Amino acid sequence: MPLVIAHRGANLEAPENTLPAFERALAYGVHGFENDVHITADGVLVVIHDDTIDRTSTGTGLVCEMTYDQLMQYDYGSWFSPEFSGTKIPTLREFFALCHDLPLINVEIKEEPNGSKAAAAAVVQLAKECGVFSNLLVSSFDMEMLQGCLAEDPTTRVAFLYAMEDPDMCEEIMDCPATFAKKHGLAALHPFITLCSGNFIAECNAAGIMVNPWTVNQEHAITALRNWGAHAVITDEPALAMGICCA
Ligand code: G3P
Ligand code: MG
Repeated sequence: MPLVIAHRGANLEAPENTLPAFERALAYGVHGFENDVHITADGVLVVIHDDTIDRTSTGTGLVCEMTYDQLMQYDYGSWFSPEFSGTKIPTLREFFALCHDLPLINVEIKEEPNGSKAAAAAVVQLAKECGVFSNLLVSSFDMEMLQGCLAEDPTTRVAFLYAMEDPDMCEEIMDCPATFAKKHGLAALHPFITLCSGNFIAECNAAGIMVNPWTVNQEHAITALRNWGAHAVITDEPALAMGICCA
C-alpha cells in the first residue's frame, strides 16, 4: 500500500506549509509530509513555497534577500483565514521536530532566484542534527540542488521532480528510468501524476526506484496508483488518500 504524504500539510484546511497545516495532517495519521524550503539571507532554512512572501503573508519581498528576523515580522495565516492570524513562518528545524516520528519526510528544496545552492548541504546537516536523516527524502526540480545533497553525504536519499515542461527530460526518464536514476544517484522519481503508468511504476519497482507522484487528489487516481504499486502518493486530500491506501 502506498504511503500517504500530505502536500504542504493539510493545505485545504489550514495555511499551506505552516505548523497548523502539518498538525492537521498528523491528525489524519498520514505517513509523511511534503514541504517546500528556502534559505534566508542569514542562512536559516524556512518552510515556504514561493520565492517571495507576497502570496502567503502580510509582507512582501524575496525570502533569500530577507533575514529570519525580518520574515518573523509578518503573519502567514491571515491570508488563508482569520482563524489562523498570528501564524509564523516555520523553520525547517521546527518542522523536523513536529514530524520526527514519521516514516517519510519529504523536503522539497526550491531553486533560489539568486542561484544559491547553500540550502542543499544545510538541509542534510540539519536533518542529521535533528535525528531525521534516515527518514529524509530530499526532492527538487533542480538537479544541482540534489547533487549538492549527495556531495554533502552520498547516502542522502534524493528524488527528482519533473513535469511536462521539459519533454526531453521526460522522454529520457521514461525511456529508461533505471539508467536515469543511476546516472544522477536518485533513490526516487517524483513525476507529475499524468506522467505515470502501471508499466512505468512496475519498471521502477523492479529497479528499486521509488515512484512518488504528485499532486494526487482524485479517488480514481489514488486508487490507480495504489493498484500500480506506487511507493507513496503526495496529496492535498490526506483523509481521502488514507481511506483508499489504508483500506
Ligand atoms: O513535491 C511535489 C510538488 O510540491 C511540486 O510542486 O510547486 O507544489 O512545490 P510544487
Ligand atoms: Mg512542493
